[in-house]
Amino acid sequence: MNKQRRVLTGITTTGVPHLGNLVGAILPAIKASEQKDTISFLFLADYHSLIKNFDSELRHQSSFDIAACWLACGLDPTKVIFYRQSDVPHIFELAWILSCLASKGLLNRAHAYKAAISDNQANKIEDIDKGINMGLFNYPILMAADILMFKADLVPVGQDQKQHIEMTRDIALKFNHHYGEILTPPEAVIDENTGVLPGVDGRKMSKSYKNIIPIFSEEKALRKVIMKIQTNSLEPGEPKDTSDSNIFEIYQAIGSKEKVNELQKLYQEGISWSEAKEILFEELNSFLKPFKSEYEKIVKDKSFVERTLLEGSEKALSVSEPIIKEIRQALGIKGF
Ligand code: TRP
Repeated sequence: MNKQRRVLTGITTTGVPHLGNLVGAILPAIKASEQKDTISFLFLADYHSLIKNFDSELRHQSSFDIAACWLACGLDPTKVIFYRQSDVPHIFELAWILSCLASKGLLNRAHAYKAAISDNQANKIEDIDKGINMGLFNYPILMAADILMFKADLVPVGQDQKQHIEMTRDIALKFNHHYGEILTPPEAVIDENTGVLPGVDGRKMSKSYKNIIPIFSEEKALRKVIMKIQTNSLEPGEPKDTSDSNIFEIYQAIGSKEKVNELQKLYQEGISWSEAKEILFEELNSFLKPFKSEYEKIVKDKSFVERTLLEGSEKALSVSEPIIKEIRQALGIKGF
């Protein structure tokens, strides 16, 4: 029998998921988790959120919202290992072990750290490390531990995370060089197609740009957001270009092929922007409805979410436990 491939991905617990997350990450990950030859590890990276967020209440709420969202969007916790990072202490033990192997120079080159340094330089701040905590600096090591702890083969991530997977490989190879072939150097899976969904202002949909389309808002609020989508100034009756339209791009991400073709025709015939928005709103509203009603049920039952995560953590621990034992042995950290 072929060994099942292990696919692992983490979600940092900040903020509430939006339409960009839904079509770009959540739904594809759920679909991938249904493949027979793979076993998916999906976790809430709650300790990663400590780097930038100092608000405990917000962290707690966000962990819950994100867990509830994944469950509402169809994640079947019996088919995947769905857990909280903080419930698996072996990860943090491994993070220390890896930090003693990773060279500081490697981490100096990490994008997130370099970006923070250049911000300081751009602002003419004398101490270039000002405001940078060790969590930000060590973040790629914690991420490597998340991955290596479970000997994951594949890690689906956005383009911005590619460097971290390369660092993880590097650190794994170094471990294996010193202590024997134990860790699995993972491969990144970067889906070029699930590109970037535009937000209402046309830039990438992102919480930090404040241009998101929320998944679980009231119908009225959703409509209001859709009506805000930026368009050009073409009048009703003038043919419109689908390749240069945020409305069309969002519609494409959620509508069936036939419906997308229909809208394309209407663009050629000169549909008005307000009609196009109305069509998008209707489609999006019915697309989101089933997720929304599931979500409303789930948030009423916090103990269901808690139970699900605890069961997931049990499964995760049953994988991490023998691996950490193997690692300790290899390090010479063992009984006499
Ligand atoms: N850093 C990732 C992000 O911001 C989240 C994450 C944490 C992750 N640990 C991971 C992703 C391990 C994949 C594997 O998107």
